[in-house]
Amino acid sequence: MRIVDYSKGYEKDWLLCRLIAFLDTQYFDDVCTEKPSFQTEQSIEIVAVEGEKLVGILDAEYHAPESSQPYYEISTIAVLPERQNSGVGNLLFTRLKQRALNNRVKRIEAWTREDHIANQWYLKMGFVKFEEYWHLYTSELPAGCAKSLPESLDAVFTFWHYSGNDPESLGVDIQDKFRCRGYEIVLRE
Ligand SMILES: CC(C)(COP(=O)(O)OP(=O)(O)OC[C@H]1O[C@@H](n2cnc3c(N)ncnc32)[C@H](O)[C@@H]1OP(=O)(O)O)[C@@H](O)C(=O)NCCC(=O)NCCS
Repeated sequence: MRIVDYSKGYEKDWLLCRLIAFLDTQYFDDVCTEKPSFQTEQSIEIVAVEGEKLVGILDAEYHAPESSQPYYEISTIAVLPERQNSGVGNLLFTRLKQRALNNRVKRIEAWTREDHIANQWYLKMGFVKFEEYWHLYTSELPAGCAKSLPESLDAVFTFWHYSGNDPESLGVDIQDKFRCRGYEIVLRE
C-alpha cells in the first residue's frame, strides 16, 4: 500500500470512499459532491492506494491563528469498510504526523460525533478529548425567534451547535441530537 498526495484524478474515488465509509456512521448525512479544497498551502491531502484502488483518505487543514500556535484539523478521515481495522487509518495518520512535524506543527485536532469506532480510534492514536458540545437538529425555531422572521419563512429543519447541558430545556422539537467531541494530540519529535 502507498500513501500519496491527493490529486484531481482521485476525486471520484475520494468522494465514493467518504460516502461509503460515512454511511453507517452518525455523519451519514454529511455528503460531499465535490472534494473540498483548502486556502492554505500547508494543508495536507493524502490518500491510501492499494494497487490501483483508493482505500483510504485523510484531509487535514492548516490553521495559523494569531493568538496561538499553528495546528492541523483533520477534516476528513475515512477508510473503505472492507479495509477498515487493518491499519490503513493508522498509516494515514502516521504520515500526517510526519508531515506536520516537517512543517513545524505540533498540535493536531479532530472533531467527531458518538460513533464508538471513531472515538476509540482517536483514543488509540493518542488523542485526548478537550471539548464537547451538542449537534442538534430541530424542526422549529426556539420560542420567540420566529417572531422576528417574515411570516412567509417557515423553519422545517434547522441545525444547531449547542454548548448547554440540557437540550430538552430549550423547548423545541428535537429531531436528532449528537454529542460532538473535540480531540487533540500534541506531537513529540
Ligand atoms: C475511523 C477509521 C478512519 C479508522 O481507520 P481504520 O483503518 O479502520 O483503523 P486502523 O485499522 O488503523 O485501526 C487502528 C486502531 O483503531 C481501533 N479500531 C479500528 N477499527 C476498529 C473496529 N472496527 N473495532 C474496534 N477497534 C477498531 C483498533 O484499536 C486499532 O488498533 P489495533 O489494530 O492495534 O487493534 C475507520 O474506521 C473509518 O473510516 N470509519 C468510518 C468513517 C469515520 O467514522 N471517520 C471519522 C469521522 S470524524
